[in-house]
Amino acid sequence: MEITLGPAKPIVGTFEVPGDKSISHRALLLASLADGVSSLQNLLDAQDPQSTIRCLRSLGVEITRRGDATEVHGRGLRGLQKPSKTLDAGNSGTTMRLLCGVLAGQPFETTISGDESLRNRPMQRVSDPLNRMGAIFHSQNGKPPLTIRGKYPLAPITYTPAVSSAQVKSAVLLAGLFADGVTVVTENVVTRDHTERLMKLPVQDSKAGRTISVSGGTVISPFNIVIPGDISSAVFLICAAALVPGSDILIRNVGLNPTRSAVLDILVAAGLQLTVDKTSGDALEEYGTIHVTFGPANKSIHLDKSIVPLVIDEIPALAILAAASGVECSVRGAAELRVKESDRIRLLVTNLRSIGVSVDEAEDGFSFDVSQIKPGRIQSGGDHRIAMAFALAGLYKGSEITIGGADASDVSFPNFWGVLESFQKR
Ligand code: S3P
Repeated sequence: MEITLGPAKPIVGTFEVPGDKSISHRALLLASLADGVSSLQNLLDAQDPQSTIRCLRSLGVEITRRGDATEVHGRGLRGLQKPSKTLDAGNSGTTMRLLCGVLAGQPFETTISGDESLRNRPMQRVSDPLNRMGAIFHSQNGKPPLTIRGKYPLAPITYTPAVSSAQVKSAVLLAGLFADGVTVVTENVVTRDHTERLMKLPVQDSKAGRTISVSGGTVISPFNIVIPGDISSAVFLICAAALVPGSDILIRNVGLNPTRSAVLDILVAAGLQLTVDKTSGDALEEYGTIHVTFGPANKSIHLDKSIVPLVIDEIPALAILAAASGVECSVRGAAELRVKESDRIRLLVTNLRSIGVSVDEAEDGFSFDVSQIKPGRIQSGGDHRIAMAFALAGLYKGSEITIGGADASDVSFPNFWGVLESFQKR
């Protein structure tokens, strides 16, 4: 699908964004392992969580809709069934990596694969620790399809992930449920903590980093959750409103977990007119309302390795915001971007060049000076965040941008183009 966007009319009103993708995956997985029926509200209804649902159903979990909620009939820690065919994780790295942790502790063998993008993503980061716990993995040079010969019980480990990754941390913690003792993960750089929150695990902060422990055999009680809106999706609306003269929007019920909200500090530091009203309460995850009015970035955006892990998913949007606002931008220490749903450094660089921005590419990032976006055509490369980030490029100062492979947005933000087209002048 191809979409052309040009100048927008003022964006005014109150919005909500779809449910958080990371929390949606985790809620589905943990509810499947719970002893009873859980109810998930505002679950993200997009391709990625649908991949998780598909895999869990193949493992014998009943997942149904009841009104607004998704009901998951948990099978308890020992109740999953051997699937009759290869599990298909689609485009979703989170589905595959987190499920690896669960499959490692099953008394059967499973094969899991995915689409072309996922079959090119590194899985050794999860198979290494899970191997140490006793599961046997076969891969194609560290990439999917993966065949996992599970073991019950697994051996507990004490582990510090080599790459800072919430997916690796989560895979080990989930495997820890099937271990014979206490599994401990220490992360040097704090990553999104939705798994440990949902599992209610003990967490200790120290000079070495953040340590999370899980006792094997911990029973998961069924739970009810209202999933907040995804801040990584909200960023596209925030930037759109900031770029279009006359805009004034509220985005309600956005997740404001501190391990996810660093992007808001970067946007404020870049000069955006943005305020956040955190809802107080004892919800599992913080959430609140974001108010944004027109005002593009007026200071340059420089991101280095100290901040990159906290905003890794928002870098495409931040880069296009900087280019469209006419400020400098540099990103370093972001080699992980090369192994996301696409090589995001390569795609950002080639696509920015094709709309008139002169970009320098580095192994672990990119940079550009003040520039002016020209009309042009970009390719999403099947990557949802690349497609949605470049939607911002056409909004300010009226450069028409055509986005090829626009339907990639269905992975995380259904009806993204419906929302963006409603902002168009024509
Ligand atoms: C995610 C973790 C991050 C992020 C991804 C979702 C998660 O990946 O980029 O979109 O839900 O745990 P890494 O764990 O590979 O950094």
